[in-house]
Amino acid sequence: MENKLYVTKSRLPDKEKFFRRLEEIFQTAWITNHGCHVRNLERSLCDYLDVDELLLCNNGTTALMLALQCAGLAGKKIALTPYTYVATLSAILWMGCTPVFVDVDPETMCLSPEKLRKCLQDSPDIAGVLPVHVYGLACDVEALDVICRENGTTLIYDAAQAFGCRYAGKGLLNYGDYSICSFHATKLFHTAEGGCVVSHSAAAHQALSRARAFGHEGDTHYCLGINAKMSELHAVMGLSLLPGTEEEIDRRKNVHTAYDALLTSVDLAFPRRSSKLDWNYAYYPVLLPDENSILRVQEALAAQDIYTRRYFYPALNTLPYLKAEWQVSCPVAENLASRALCLPLYGDLEEKQIVRIAASLGKALAGLSLGKE
Ligand SMILES: Cc1ncc(COP(=O)(O)O)c(C=O)c1O
Repeated sequence: MENKLYVTKSRLPDKEKFFRRLEEIFQTAWITNHGCHVRNLERSLCDYLDVDELLLCNNGTTALMLALQCAGLAGKKIALTPYTYVATLSAILWMGCTPVFVDVDPETMCLSPEKLRKCLQDSPDIAGVLPVHVYGLACDVEALDVICRENGTTLIYDAAQAFGCRYAGKGLLNYGDYSICSFHATKLFHTAEGGCVVSHSAAAHQALSRARAFGHEGDTHYCLGINAKMSELHAVMGLSLLPGTEEEIDRRKNVHTAYDALLTSVDLAFPRRSSKLDWNYAYYPVLLPDENSILRVQEALAAQDIYTRRYFYPALNTLPYLKAEWQVSCPVAENLASRALCLPLYGDLEEKQIVRIAASLGKALAGLSLGKE
């Protein structure tokens, strides 16, 4: 087990502090339905993420569904990036929406503003846009904002991977009409399962809050709702982990620096990072020359007990269960998806392990180029 290196490792809180908080729950027997730990975590996260309002949910997927529902987008056409985790698309499909895939920028790997502009001109009935800050690398938020305003289109960011990122001096979750984040166990900050939705008006906040809890308050029923509440047990995990998050980001940054230094002479490309972004260093994505290299490298690393992940593969526009008319060609995303790999990254990855991963990767790639000669 010790020798196996996975792409990520869930951060665990200090046991004593965690159990002390759980003890409080045992005293009150209040384990869900907006208890004090959920409210406490909501306040703490508003501070940490630099946002005015935030609602905790039971995961990031339901947070996305709530945003789509409360923005009045259920059943409508939504433009989205094909280069993301499948949950972005799943939320759209569960809301009965029609996905319209718009290709990504080859450098940022995020939704291309130019292609979005053209798509909105061609399909004026698109009611919402759902870009993703992929790997926490910010989309071109200024351009997307202008385009969506000009077209009267609602802008919802999937910021599932962008916890703690800041852009142009403010929390990245402030951009767009809504943003969601995931607090899944694999994320930099987590609540085992969980997520949140951020909105920017009292009316949106109230609508989301009601929809999160079945759509009613007491005996008054306001709207269609669902059960998307976070439990007190999950909130306790978040409260216990939040104070160590800055340190975790610093540790991940050190892992990045070490990888960067060790991989300078390896034939890899990296996504471009905006100079306005304070990144969370949550992932270490690399682009290999082609799909064959990925498959061979993954196999060679797995033989050394190093388990990488193809984040994100396949491009979602190619999923077999989509209607044929939704499977439009997105050559840039398809190409990136065939070449992208995430290396193991978490705060307590040790230097000797980083050296081992970088050496194995370099050797596997060198073996491939020798094979070509
Ligand atoms: C980009 C993206 N969107 C949505 C989700 C869904 O979040 P969750 O697993 O909390 O439902 C995730 C993570 O799993 C994700 O990476």
